Amino acid sequence: MARTRARAPLGQVLHLLEPAARPASPDVAHGYLDLLGAQDPTGSHPGQRLMAGRALPLIYERLWRPVGGRVLMGAIGPGMGDERRIALELLGLSPGDRVLDVGCGPGNFTRLFAAEAGPESLVVGVDASATMLARGVAEGVPENVVYVRGDAAALPFSDGVFDAVCCFAALYLIADPWGALDEIARVLAPGGRVAILTSCHRGLAPAGLTRPVVRAMTGVRMFGRDEVTDALRTRGLRGERRRVAGLAQFVGASRPAR
Ligand SMILES: C[S@@+](CC[C@H](N)C(=O)[O-])C[C@H]1O[C@@H](n2cnc3c(N)ncnc32)[C@H](O)[C@@H]1O
Repeated sequence: MARTRARAPLGQVLHLLEPAARPASPDVAHGYLDLLGAQDPTGSHPGQRLMAGRALPLIYERLWRPVGGRVLMGAIGPGMGDERRIALELLGLSPGDRVLDVGCGPGNFTRLFAAEAGPESLVVGVDASATMLARGVAEGVPENVVYVRGDAAALPFSDGVFDAVCCFAALYLIADPWGALDEIARVLAPGGRVAILTSCHRGLAPAGLTRPVVRAMTGVRMFGRDEVTDALRTRGLRGERRRVAGLAQFVGASRPAR
């Protein structure tokens, strides 16, 4: 698909949508493109409901997320600055790239990618939570960013339109993570890079016992050590890289260039 730098960012995003997902009159009343309306695919577990509620988005970026990262990765594990560095390293952004941030929350990484890839780039943050996206809008939307309310497991974009796709701290909350990985791989262009931060089961108790309990209590899915890298490989991605930190793993991979 030809690049259309001259278009305003929203026009560019509408152009990247699959024809069936392109709305006749786009709903941008709240500062993001809402493609879900009354649908809510976030799921019914407690952690999932928190993300869609009103209170958490207010404290998410400055309090919840840094503390949550510590809980998941340990006191001497990567902090937020390290996470940002790892994301940029795995995504290898270049000026003008099209970047997708899946489960973007209030845009804490979306804004980083927008600054890194520069004004000629297009950075799309997609999330199912209206309250998270409203928070992202309140934080200020850079000129090269568009937020979209959509389902990670049914991304509205055409095949192969993004140079880089990030999914940090979201895959373990998404009700259908395998569907989301299908979609992430599908929208990635040849030569495109993916960066994922998610959970990693390392408990002493067998995964088959503890994982359903953690999932039921929190909504967080604990992925097996090789599950995500294997899933990316099955979906045609190569060059997997993984760094395990506490109960988390950073995973990078890319779609082979044609
Ligand atoms: C913990 S936040 C992550 C925000 C940010 N990426 C970060 O690293 O801090 C997880 C986000 O995933 C979103 N989410 C959960 N299920 C989703 C789905 N099916 N489609 C899109 N977003 C979803 C939630 O609404 C929430 O904003």
